[in-house]
Formats: sequence, C-alpha cells, structure tokens
Amino acid sequence: MQIINEPEQMQAIAEKLRLNRQLLAVVMTMGALHEGHLSLVKLARERAGTVILTIFVNPTQFGANEDLHRYPRPFEQDVALAKSAGVDYLFAPEAGSIYPEHYQTTLQCGAIAEQFEGQQRPGHFNGVATIVTKLFNITKPHTAIFGEKDAQQLAIIRRLVADLNLDVSVVAAPIVRETNGLAVSSRNIYLSSHERIAADVLYRGLCHAEQRLAEGELNLQKIVAEVAEMINSVPECRTDYVNFVDEESFALAERADAGKEYRLLLAVFCGSVRLLDNRKMSA
Ligand code: PAJ
Repeated sequence: MQIINEPEQMQAIAEKLRLNRQLLAVVMTMGALHEGHLSLVKLARERAGTVILTIFVNPTQFGANEDLHRYPRPFEQDVALAKSAGVDYLFAPEAGSIYPEHYQTTLQCGAIAEQFEGQQRPGHFNGVATIVTKLFNITKPHTAIFGEKDAQQLAIIRRLVADLNLDVSVVAAPIVRETNGLAVSSRNIYLSSHERIAADVLYRGLCHAEQRLAEGELNLQKIVAEVAEMINSVPECRTDYVNFVDEESFALAERADAGKEYRLLLAVFCGSVRLLDNRKMSA
C-alpha cells in the first residue's frame, strides 16, 4: 500500500492508472477506521482493480461549536487496518494542501441539505459536497462507495453527482451493525456500558416501523409516534427527530403509497451522545 499526501501526486497516479485501463474505486473517510469503513473497502475491492482510501478530517464540515480538534486521528492504526483490508493507495493530505492560502470556492447544496442533519449543522453539507467533489477530482474514480449509515449525506452526494454531471458511479453500502443492532460508529466509544445496551432501542424502533408498514399501516405519522414513544420510554434515550422520507426524493413523507419505498431517519440522544440510524422499508 502506498501512502500519498500531495493532491498533485495522487492525481498523477490516478491518471496513469486510468490510462492503463485500471478500474478505480474510492472510499472517502475521516479516519478512525472501524468495521463500517472496512465494509466499504471490501465492496470497493469487489468492484475495482485499484482501491483508493482517503483519510481527511475536513475542517469545512465542522461547525464553530463542534470540536474539530478533538476528532480522533489514530493514523498508525488506520494505516495498518487499511493495509490489511487490501487498500492500494491511501491518500491522506494535510489541510493546507487541500485548502491553501487564498482558497475561497464552496459548493452550495439545495433544499435537501437544509432539513434533518442540515438544520442541526448549518453549512455542514456544503462542506461535505465541496470536499467530496475535490476528492473526486483528485482520485479520479470510476466508482465511489458511501455508507447508508449517513443516508442524508448519501442522498446529497447522489444529487451532487447528477446535478454536476460528475462521471462517477455512486454505490451505497449497507449499515454495519453490532450484534444488538447498534449501528457501528466512532461515537459509540462515548457510550457507557449501560447506554450501549439501551441504544439497541434505535434498531428495535426501525424494525417496529418496518413491520407496521409491512402490515399495511400507511399513516407514517402514526408509526413515527409509536417509534418515538418506544425510544423515549427508555430512560437513557431521548429522540431528537424521527422522520420518514420518500426514498427517491428524500422529502419528508407523512402518508405512504402502497408499493413505494420510504426511509425512516432517527437522531437520538443516548446520554449525551447523539446517535444516527435509518432503514429503508417498503409500504
Ligand atoms: P466518515 O464519518 O469517516 O464516514 C466515511 C464513510 O463510512 C461514510 O460513507 C459513512 O456513511 C460510512 N460509514 C460509517 N459508519 C458506517 C457503518 N456502520 N456502516 C456502513 N458505512 C458506514 O462521512 C464522512 O466520513 C465524511 O463526511 C466524508 C464523506 C469522508 C467527507 O468528509
């Protein structure tokens, strides 16, 4: 595995690989790699001859009150994990080479980025869209793998690729879960052992909703109320939001049409840790 720090060097390598008719897949991360990230690498391996992993803690997607500097950066451990997962190129730039002096261009997402996580974190998705576009231009992939764990981010990236005619195919990777159903996340280390057990209510809530839809309940607001009650009945947990969106448009959905697909989005405080989860389900 080769480690690259400079954008120009990564671009030159990617261009040469493309000229040699290699298929390139990219997995973009902020590091502190875990099973979720590694499942994306595995999918990339299955889809392409060359796998590029990017590790960059992107400052422009952090709000002023979010602690960018506290974000974990276990680089040596990440290098070992990336190597054993079969990554060919690890691109890990310094912030100064991605946002040099005089840098000033930022992408502006549309309405899809203003709701849910976007309401919580103004500007966050503009930062994500900008870095993802820059990383596409630097790594020149044919395929890019993103996790369904961040469903709104995935929807925004699909929109970005379509709207800007980016020549890359976006592949969604399923959510990797712990045995009790808790979605794997770097934030899980902040949960106490009690909270970790209590947090299985998110997955139970998603399964309950899926079952209610399968039974033919088309009133999504009713299902949302049931899921919220389930979660809030666990003393450690408090819902931030529970919402259904239309799977295709990512617009808020209150009533279901039989046969259509929806996604239930959960943001839940477990103690002081804010957990995200979601699941696609059919009416
Ligand atoms: P990060 O939070 O490091 O996540 C990198 C990728 O891993 C994302 O596509 C995310 O959805 C996926 N992922 C995380 N946990 C997962 C799980 N349990 N199962 C499946 N996939 C999972 O998302 C970002 O970084 C950044 O916003 C980035 C896109 C890199 C731009 O800076």
